[in-house]
Amino acid sequence: MAEHRHIRVLFGEEDIAARNAEIAEVIAAREPKDLLVVAVLKGSFMFAADLMRALHRVGLAPQVEFMHLASYYEGTTSSGQVTILKDVESDVRDRDVILVDDILESGRTLAFAKDLLAARGARVTTCCLLEKPGKRAVHLEADIVGFSCPDLFVVGYGMDVAHSFRELPFIGVIEPGDGFSA
Ligand code: IMP
Ligand code: MG
Repeated sequence: MAEHRHIRVLFGEEDIAARNAEIAEVIAAREPKDLLVVAVLKGSFMFAADLMRALHRVGLAPQVEFMHLASYYEGTTSSGQVTILKDVESDVRDRDVILVDDILESGRTLAFAKDLLAARGARVTTCCLLEKPGKRAVHLEADIVGFSCPDLFVVGYGMDVAHSFRELPFIGVIEPGDGFSA
């Protein structure tokens, strides 16, 4: 199993924690009503968990739901088709929903989820921990972005390559030559 020394840290634990606190302040300043965090599985589970605690610290009382989506790939590029593996269980009508994802790349996954929740009557704010500039296939920018990410395949803090590395408390890039490089 790969060890931590094979991962070059891009965003460390302290950077992420500090940014989560700032994001919570941004959300609080919007004075959300009936706040619901919807986390897109699996990649955003760790970010969503920390963001929930950060929201509590700024005096908010969010509820949380999870949505698991699958994107179909042809080779390494997304075909654009997204399907729902698991839907939210709560009614989202007339609620302020923070739609949380790990990384915004083509934007197809987030656009799909945003449109779905908006069609059900939610007021949707999109929030991505990372965004890769210049990679968008659809016209969508996140309302809140944690960090701008270089065009590298990143892992950790919920993000994986072949189901591994989600447990890392930081975000990094796999160093070449360890058999795990994407
Ligand atoms: P898109 O914006 O619909 O292209 O999908 C973005 C999704 O692709 C993210 O939610 C991740 O699950 C995955 N993804 C994109 N880039 C990376 C990366 O660098 N590391 C890990 N997962 C990634
Ligand atoms: Mg994802």
